[in-house]
Amino acid sequence: MSPSRVDWKSNGQLAVGKGATVQEFMAVVGADRLAIDVAPWGEGRLKVNGHEIAHVREAKDRRQAFRELQKIADHYLQTRAAPFEKPGSSPKLPAVKAKLLEGKKGLIVGIANDQSIAWGCAKAFRALGAELAVTYLNDKAKKFVDPLAHALEAPIVMPLDVRAAGQMEAVFEKIGKVWGSLDFLVHSIAFSPKEALQGRVVDVSRDGFATTLDVSCWTFIRMAHLAEPLMRKGGTLFTMSYYGSQMVVKNYNIMGVAKAALECAVRYIAAELGPKGIRVHAISPGPLATRAASGIPEFDALLDRAKAKAPARSLVSIDDVGVATAFLAHDAARLITGETLYVDGGYHIID
Ligand SMILES: NC(=O)c1ccc[n+]([C@@H]2O[C@H](COP(=O)([O-])OP(=O)(O)OC[C@H]3O[C@@H](n4cnc5c(N)ncnc54)[C@H](O)[C@@H]3O)[C@@H](O)[C@H]2O)c1
Repeated sequence: MSPSRVDWKSNGQLAVGKGATVQEFMAVVGADRLAIDVAPWGEGRLKVNGHEIAHVREAKDRRQAFRELQKIADHYLQTRAAPFEKPGSSPKLPAVKAKLLEGKKGLIVGIANDQSIAWGCAKAFRALGAELAVTYLNDKAKKFVDPLAHALEAPIVMPLDVRAAGQMEAVFEKIGKVWGSLDFLVHSIAFSPKEALQGRVVDVSRDGFATTLDVSCWTFIRMAHLAEPLMRKGGTLFTMSYYGSQMVVKNYNIMGVAKAALECAVRYIAAELGPKGIRVHAISPGPLATRAASGIPEFDALLDRAKAKAPARSLVSIDDVGVATAFLAHDAARLITGETLYVDGGYHIID
């Protein structure tokens, strides 16, 4: 496929030319829907069927960012391999000159693959200089997580199934032995049995309720408990929530109840640990096409709605979530705690 064969059309609903902010271009090639959005400061993204496959950050301007992404799109169309998936290539971390989190050590729980929100967080934290411990669910997940842990140069990589007795304790024990302290923790996990998640809240079984709340909420409370003694000089605890905690979002069902409990736990723990300099936040990203999201029926409709309604007219990426989270771990954010921070293009403010 030569570049000239791809017919990029600009999104007519966005302003174009000088003074425009983000511009979007789309092309349909066979079964693939390609989209490029570019910002005037030289940043841009290429998505294929809604999945981001390339992100350019340091182009001179919008035009150069577009040209670079066009080339990547051509390469994708020729090889059907995203840059990230080229055989033999290893995941790349963004190059950031200011190592604002240098010297900080953190635990990242919830990387399943390179689409995971936890991976977006890990990339941002590492790029800013933090040292990371990472966990993987089980042997099946290990092969996906290992190359990512390698890219992060993580000194601690451990199995963690929060439902397996003793595994959470073992992770914190290891951190105590290797580092002696912890500066931040990212809890980015949730689970609900299919019949509980896909049914009405009013029908949920006791087991379905207990499992959902156990994995998606209680484990954050327990991790905060285990992190507290390691955060002698203060620290920051993060968990991932969603707008379905506040509003009834179709198909979010019992997970909305769990996220409401989680956000409430964030406030109580923030109040309890605040005097020790430990801050606690829920991050509430807009919808992202991850493995966890695939369990939610009609998720594509949710993505379409988010994009159309959000003031930013854009879906968020795991990198957007990562940098916002990393900011809150910085000392500059030392007086911000107990928040639920929306990283959703402003979706939550619109009726
Ligand atoms: N994807 C979205 O649209 C979205 C939006 C807002 C919030 N969130 C939240 O973000 C968090 C991360 O989800 P994601 O979207 O990155 O999906 P993901 O599938 O990449 O991550 C979910 C993680 O939960 C882990 N997990 C599930 N059961 C576990 C257990 N018993 N022990 C240990 N780990 C377990 C999985 O291994 C996986 O790493 C979740 O809390 C999710 O609810 C997701």
